[in-house]
Amino acid sequence: MSDIQTIGVVGAGTMGHGIAQVAAAAGYQTRLCDIQPAALEKGLAGISKSLDRMVKKEKISEQDKADVLSRISTTSELSDLADCQLVVEAVVERLDIKTKVLSTLDEVCPADTILATNTSSISITKLAAATSRPEKVIGMHFMNPVPVMKLIEVIRGLATDQATYDAVEAASKKMGKTPVEVHDAPGFVSNRVLLPMINEAVFALYEGVGTAESIDQVMKLGMNHPMGPLALADLIGLDVCLDILRVLVDGFGDPKYRPCPLLVKMVDAGHLGRKSGRGFYDYST
Ligand code: 3HC
Repeated sequence: MSDIQTIGVVGAGTMGHGIAQVAAAAGYQTRLCDIQPAALEKGLAGISKSLDRMVKKEKISEQDKADVLSRISTTSELSDLADCQLVVEAVVERLDIKTKVLSTLDEVCPADTILATNTSSISITKLAAATSRPEKVIGMHFMNPVPVMKLIEVIRGLATDQATYDAVEAASKKMGKTPVEVHDAPGFVSNRVLLPMINEAVFALYEGVGTAESIDQVMKLGMNHPMGPLALADLIGLDVCLDILRVLVDGFGDPKYRPCPLLVKMVDAGHLGRKSGRGFYDYST
């Protein structure tokens, strides 16, 4: 397997553009791909804003910011990722869309390119089966906001080989992250533990046990969480939270993971959290 020099990222949304930022900041040539040019523009703007925060806090210089941006190219064509040694897909949390992206990458990338998925809950083994190279498919589960959170949850599929794991572990560390290996099960560890907590906070709101503010205040002051579970859900995206809970219910066949009706209603109403300007809190001002 050739050394990783160029990393592709598919999907310029919240997670995708964050992954592109940390890859470029680690010195990799980075290709950010999204079918929507507007999403690419928004993603680049998000990267620039994040780097500006770091310049303002004197964590990096203006030159560092320029160097990171100079290593990022954008495209709407998956075929432009053919020169990448590692591609991370970070598209919407839908099995059909992820398998379509991975099978297309399987066609356009050389046989030894590693195909990683940032899925938050879907089976790596199942996603790998959509390709002719399951031994080169692996889960690289980044945390939001990607530039700040140290964890990358690394998940092998049933066929993932050791060389693939080793290359991804080394790349994760080069990005300044801590890779932690967990096994391929619905929601892995992060979301299997986190989403039931968020869902219970939504039930507490739904049943009138507290207001959004008081529920979040309890968990911030009482458990020293940096943000409350409802504010966190708004950061993650209520649609993403709902998708993950549905994967947990289906994956384990256990009704304890059933999503709170209020969460379903809010997603149906398009109240998705920060990204739509409104979730449990109002971000429109
Ligand atoms: N880019 C760069 N730096 C950023 C940033 C960004 N997007 N967001 C925050 N920061 C930096 C700030 O500059 C600041 O840096 P400093 O410590 O050197 O001053 C630091 O992070 C803290 O940021 P703020 O002071 O603006 O705000 P907070 O102190 O409230 O921190 C937070 C914001 C880092 C998001 C914090 O609230 C937090 O850690 N929340 C929990 C996030 C979390 O749990 N993420 C995981 C969600 S689960 C997931 O993603 C999995 C998926 O599958 C669902």
